[in-house]
Amino acid sequence: MAAGIDDISIYIPRLYIDAADFAEARGLDPVKLQKGLGVSQMAIVDANQDPAILAANACLKIMQKNKLSPEDIGRLYVSTESSFDESKAMNSFVIGMLEQVYGQGAFEHCGGVETKFACVSGSYALYDNTNWIRAGEAEGKHALVVVSDIAKYDMGSSGEMTQGAGAVVMLLNDNPRLLAFDPKVTSTSIKDEYDFYRPFGKETPIVHGQYSNMLYMIQVRKALEAYKKKVISTKLINIEQGETILDHMDYINMHLPYSNMGKKALAYLVRHEWRQLPRWKKVLQEIGMDEPIPKDPRGTIESVLGDEEFMAKDHEFTKLFTKTPEYQEVYESKLASSLIASSMIGNLYTASLYLGFRSSLEFEYQKGIQLEGKRIGFGSYGSGSSAMVFSGVIQPEFEEIVKNMNLEAEIGERRRLTWEEYEELHENKLSPEESMLKSKKEFSLVDVKTETESRGERR
Ligand code: CAA
Repeated sequence: MAAGIDDISIYIPRLYIDAADFAEARGLDPVKLQKGLGVSQMAIVDANQDPAILAANACLKIMQKNKLSPEDIGRLYVSTESSFDESKAMNSFVIGMLEQVYGQGAFEHCGGVETKFACVSGSYALYDNTNWIRAGEAEGKHALVVVSDIAKYDMGSSGEMTQGAGAVVMLLNDNPRLLAFDPKVTSTSIKDEYDFYRPFGKETPIVHGQYSNMLYMIQVRKALEAYKKKVISTKLINIEQGETILDHMDYINMHLPYSNMGKKALAYLVRHEWRQLPRWKKVLQEIGMDEPIPKDPRGTIESVLGDEEFMAKDHEFTKLFTKTPEYQEVYESKLASSLIASSMIGNLYTASLYLGFRSSLEFEYQKGIQLEGKRIGFGSYGSGSSAMVFSGVIQPEFEEIVKNMNLEAEIGERRRLTWEEYEELHENKLSPEESMLKSKKEFSLVDVKTETESRGERR
């Protein structure tokens, strides 16, 4: 049975901090943000928004657009790493808000949980719900998987220049108009690590930035190795002599904590895949630097991450490789269009991979490219740490969804924050009634109570 993404909607806060204003206030070269990281603007939540609000607004949008009623939805999962309750799941908050529109008890039989594994948990939620559909449990109903996050780092920390916020919701069913997932090839990699984590009660994460970058690339590569074995054993793809698995992915979407990380991570995968190919000798000559080979030939996480000198050399090598014409061609044709939304909006943690997918659909379609039948590869990563690699194929009815995509229109009119406004919002100095923008026909926080049964009233 086919199963996959039928439609996709986004909800992005309309406030943003501009990279140039950020750089000026922090005494940084703006080129570091704009060119070094690929960050132009970062969406910032208003005082009357939280991750459940973002998720509910995205869900309402997709339900109204597709004229769905609550009885059509068998499952609603929320994946987030911005959770504000250790027990009450975020999907219950979302259902509470949706029932203000659709009536009390309207979602009574809609199952679901909140899932957590840093930025990768939305991919696990998609996989589990796809299998719920494939197993025939959905009985014609749809699943909603919403990935919603506020990427917020400490003031003055190196992570602060990679913030953002927003939600992406995906409607899943057994007759998807957009993308059908390839069965039996989804692959994972997992290891107990501390590259990025947020202990109980802490609003912002503890981050080992460069370590997390390297771990991301290693984990996705390991998941790709497992994926490769599965596509061969299931005979999904026939990899001919002189080809790599990446040649069989027309587009590749990577997890995007900032847009240039996608470029780096794909380069890392490509350079490791190309090692066995005759063209690799020529590329090595162009780079003019010895390829750093881990002392442990298996390239285990311990052998790579335990060696800072190796990591620095490996980073430099990947950086030089991204500049070669051979990689540029792969980058432009398979990845570049997925980075456009990220540079306008910033990091969305769980949602960043799917915002990238949404971005590539819109901007590739605008080029006049026929997308039907194209295979999309996904490289998902969550700190802590786990990666997932999977793929899907664009369906014949894709155009019904993609032709109306317009990122700017969907975000709405944006407002550039002053530095003082940004600081007030970041430090939670404003109450919901002091929000910068007044909400119209959308959910927003009305009140936030502490030490009571209810965390907040949402309308
Ligand atoms: N002009 C042009 N480019 C410049 C520049 C300038 N003046 N100054 C620096 N750059 C370039 C650097 O060369 C570098 O490019 P490369 O990556 O290609 O080498 C880039 O700009 C960034 O510079 P630094 O590496 O010096 O930046 P930094 O160390 O200050 O911070 C960061 C970067 C580590 C990513 C930091 O922002 C951070 O900690 N972010 C949060 C953690 C994170 O995003 N990790 C990603 C993997 S984990 C994950 O994905 C989970 C998640 O969602 C967070």
